[in-house]
Amino acid sequence: MLRDRSLFAIRSVPAEQVYPIRSSVLLDGDTSQCRFRGDDQDSTLHLAICDGDAIVAAATVCQEAFPGSPGDNAWRLRGVAVDPSMQRYGFGRMLIKLCFDHARKEGGRIVWCTARESARGFYEALGFASASPPFTLPTRGDVLFYEMHYVLPGEPVTDVE
Ligand SMILES: CC(C)(COP(=O)(O)OP(=O)(O)OC[C@H]1O[C@@H](n2cnc3c(N)ncnc32)[C@H](O)[C@@H]1OP(=O)(O)O)[C@@H](O)C(=O)NCCC(=O)NCCS
Repeated sequence: MLRDRSLFAIRSVPAEQVYPIRSSVLLDGDTSQCRFRGDDQDSTLHLAICDGDAIVAAATVCQEAFPGSPGDNAWRLRGVAVDPSMQRYGFGRMLIKLCFDHARKEGGRIVWCTARESARGFYEALGFASASPPFTLPTRGDVLFYEMHYVLPGEPVTDVE
């Protein structure tokens, strides 16, 4: 059972601090691929949920065009990762809502991601839709991915617990 969630802190952190959890949760421990395009843009937000000094969940949102859609109002989620022992306690949802909030404050209208098959239901639970057929990536031929998107409503996000 999880400890009281109020004992965890949510922080905006420098990109380097999310690399370890990206590597362990998303990249099978590979540390050579954990830096993503967009990490160093001024408008990019890296969020971490911390248990003391340990980062147990993280997500990044950066401005990046939605494939096939012109305009600069699209934001991309990257490196959404929750430590396996902390999954299904609402941390992923909390991080995505804060990323939505950031994108909206920066004038974003759409948030999109490349979701792996195993996480597709998570994004669907948060209201994301997918219009694209599944595809593989050159670096991950063993995993199916889906391009998923969420159109931000006009009102600010206020329901983060
Ligand atoms: C996918 C992931 C980010 C979800 O984070 P989480 O903290 O476990 O998810 P939450 O507890 O916030 O769940 C939010 C909702 O999504 C659902 N959900 C979570 N993971 C799911 C999954 N893998 N499949 C289907 N639904 C899922 C939950 O049941 C919950 O729905 P509900 O509110 O209707 O009950 C996390 O499991 C993870 O890091 N997985 C491994 C890495 C990964 O796949 N990252 C995404 C890269 S594309």
